[in-house]
Amino acid sequence: MSEDERLTELAKRRGFFFQSSGAYGGVAGFYVYGPEGATLKENLQDAWRDRFVRREGHMEIESPAIMPEPVFEASGHLDGFDDMIVECPECGASHRADHLVEDETDIEEAESIAIPDIEALIAEHDLVCPSCGTALAGESVEDFNLMFGTNIGPGSSSPGYLRPETAQGIFVEFPRLKEYARGQLPFGVAQIGAAYRNEISPRKGLVRLREFAQAELEHFVDPETDEPPLERVADVEVTLYSAAEQEDADGEPRTMTVREAVDAGVVGSDWVAYYLGVAQGWYERVGVDMDRFRYRQHQSGELAHYAADCWDAEAEVGGDWIEITGFAYRGDYDLSKHAEYGDDDFTIFKQYDDPVTVETATVDPDMSYLGPEFGGDAGAVKDALEDLAERDRSAFESDEVTVAVDGEDRTVPVEKTGFAVEEVTEAGEHVTPHVVEPSFGVDRIVYTVLAHGLRTDEAGETVDEGGGSGAEPSGEEADDGEERTVLSLPPEVAPTGVAVFPLMDKDGLDERAREIAEGLRAAGFEVAYDDSGSIGRRYRRQDEVGTPFCVTVDYDTLEDGTVTVRDRDTTAQARVGTDDLAGTIGDLLTGDRTVADF
Ligand code: GAP
Repeated sequence: MSEDERLTELAKRRGFFFQSSGAYGGVAGFYVYGPEGATLKENLQDAWRDRFVRREGHMEIESPAIMPEPVFEASGHLDGFDDMIVECPECGASHRADHLVEDETDIEEAESIAIPDIEALIAEHDLVCPSCGTALAGESVEDFNLMFGTNIGPGSSSPGYLRPETAQGIFVEFPRLKEYARGQLPFGVAQIGAAYRNEISPRKGLVRLREFAQAELEHFVDPETDEPPLERVADVEVTLYSAAEQEDADGEPRTMTVREAVDAGVVGSDWVAYYLGVAQGWYERVGVDMDRFRYRQHQSGELAHYAADCWDAEAEVGGDWIEITGFAYRGDYDLSKHAEYGDDDFTIFKQYDDPVTVETATVDPDMSYLGPEFGGDAGAVKDALEDLAERDRSAFESDEVTVAVDGEDRTVPVEKTGFAVEEVTEAGEHVTPHVVEPSFGVDRIVYTVLAHGLRTDEAGETVDEGGGSGAEPSGEEADDGEERTVLSLPPEVAPTGVAVFPLMDKDGLDERAREIAEGLRAAGFEVAYDDSGSIGRRYRRQDEVGTPFCVTVDYDTLEDGTVTVRDRDTTAQARVGTDDLAGTIGDLLTGDRTVADF
């Protein structure tokens, strides 16, 4: 079984995730998180919130998933958010054309290739429909917009779309959000929520979905003056696969510190470099295997329509590198576009330390002259004179001034323009902030953490299967040598923190075990209770869902108040007292103590 198949099998059997609407044949690209998966996802989101919102001092909002069409006209998604589609002439199946090329050739990033070249590659490599085997050479490749459309209210007069990124809900609300930031840059706004893309070919479980969760941070900065606290991550080592290395036949990813990457110009934006450094530690914290991880820079043809530069965090799963996060420098693209299309102020007023006096050139044209002279073009001539006065006041030094309107020169006596140079004292200026955006795909991180945490090993442990007495478990080696499946999730994200088992479901062991489980729940832990099957089987069940610790209540518990605590990863066991079991479990979960310390 491949890594993806093993993961998908476990995920379905143990309640992590499975395809939705199974009773109706299933719908590609829509998944359900089962009880284990929903908690794992929530824990990951909490860990993200802790690192990227709370510890960075940013704010978090929640905005609607449906937004009106003009938002997406402004953002560029209506025109430019397309993938390449090719349809099979025989069976009618639709396929993502660039993925067909990637799957069947050595080309890695076919997304950046132009449509005519993709058509040529399909013909050159004799690519066929994956569904029915019909040749696709000669079939036209088209742009397919990925947004799900809808109508807001009855009728069709108010079209809307499900947001393809949560980011737009932040940009559109910038005029309000800047007030909460008291008009001061820099500030960051985060949002965790669903995004929707009508993917042509959803695939690989949670990797390419039509409804997925994003955790996005839009950090608004003044590009002239704001700098990130780079020193906090300067020594963090990152593996970077730059665009230049990708283009070089002998190129390869290189490992260096964040400081070295900035000094050598490998990462052009200090802000992007800062977040690469912050995120590196976060991925490790939530269970991404850093030996199967890298940052890859977008090649120029691959950049989204809004991005000036972008680095993807990529994790290797099942032999493929999957993009789990994009770190984009969006410049002032989004706020400028919403200022152009929307009806609000998308700038920040930046107060100068000391007011400055500047000379400004203005015009106040005599319309009783321009009107008769230029008729319907008089307004345009006035606008052109205003522009020219701002750009080049020397043009007003002679007796006449000439401006072009619709390609035609219009000459006006300077005395009719009302040209004047005035001194104006300015307290500050309006600036359009730039945006630095770390955009995390939550589902892909769930998938990666599960894949990287999943392993099989041989159980070589001693298991107390009944009646043991004394300080150590009695040691019936029921499962020694048996293969076990273990999900080594970090305790912070594991769906269950601790499982409690009564050795026997009788003799008061069950009652005591339930009391202990309740006590741990009251102390705030996620607790599973399991009283069915052998203790070895119960360990295996918890290992598979990543529960870091198990507590077994046996006959000694009734005598001396101790229980067996067992560590998922090492399978080490120890007897610990129940007086402060919550404190002990808390220490074990945070790593302040290990089972070997008892
Ligand atoms: N606001 C920027 C943005 O949306 P993106 O690279 O298109 O950038 C960000 O998406 C992240 O969302 C990706 O790195 C990926 O992890 C996740 N993502 C994108 N499309 C997805 C899909 N169809 N299914 C699951 N996750 C997806």
